[in-house]
Amino acid sequence: MAQLGVNVDHVATVRQARGTSEPDPVTAAALAELGGADSITVHLREDRRHIQDRDVRVLRQTLKTRLNLEMANTREMLEFALQVRPDSVCLVPERRQELTTEGGLDVLHQELELQPTVNRLQAEGIVVSLFVDPDPAQIEAARRTGAAAIEIHTGTYCDAPTALRAQSELAKIAAGVQLGRELGLIVNAGHGLNYRNVTPVVALGGIEEFNIGHSIIARALLVGMERAVREMAELVRR
Ligand code: PXP
Repeated sequence: MAQLGVNVDHVATVRQARGTSEPDPVTAAALAELGGADSITVHLREDRRHIQDRDVRVLRQTLKTRLNLEMANTREMLEFALQVRPDSVCLVPERRQELTTEGGLDVLHQELELQPTVNRLQAEGIVVSLFVDPDPAQIEAARRTGAAAIEIHTGTYCDAPTALRAQSELAKIAAGVQLGRELGLIVNAGHGLNYRNVTPVVALGGIEEFNIGHSIIARALLVGMERAVREMAELVRR
């Protein structure tokens, strides 16, 4: 059975919009665990646009499940990860101007830079996964870095403009999962998955963990809205 990792970055996005202390992604993570999350993911970005260093440190102390830290392959992030010691690290490409991670790592052209980071983290018992497109050459390169895992980028499948394109992207994911497993890698998947498009990917089998953020946070906002307004209306009308 596949596991679910919940990404709470966008709880922090709402907090940062006001520069206050709520909503706290640490509280959201605890509730996600109560709801059945198998792990919690946060992306500490170079520009600190949502998750802050404090969030990762407090999550490390409070989580009952696993902490998966998404980060770019930089010296600053490596030192931070070695200090905080998440259970796993997912290395992702990062561009300041992007709204969200736009695709997988170009492992083929960054093997030499990635390998020392993978080795250093895994020597400390931190499982490393590389976020890659479902491209056989990238998956093979990921294997050569010594990383224990890959996370297959599902964004192109999720954003496919037609059902036909979605089918062909799904076939690429299926082939990527198969290749990753043949190479002995742990295969995870994520990006852009929501309540409508996740089922065909789950049905492929062979994916150990799905990392899902935006759609869960967006839904939580809506399914919780009614109660939040009712409680405030009671206070106002008292
Ligand atoms: N996996 C990776 C590597 C990501 O960068 C992200 C987005 O932060 C996710 C999964 C989750 O994507 P989404 O928020 O679209 O579910």
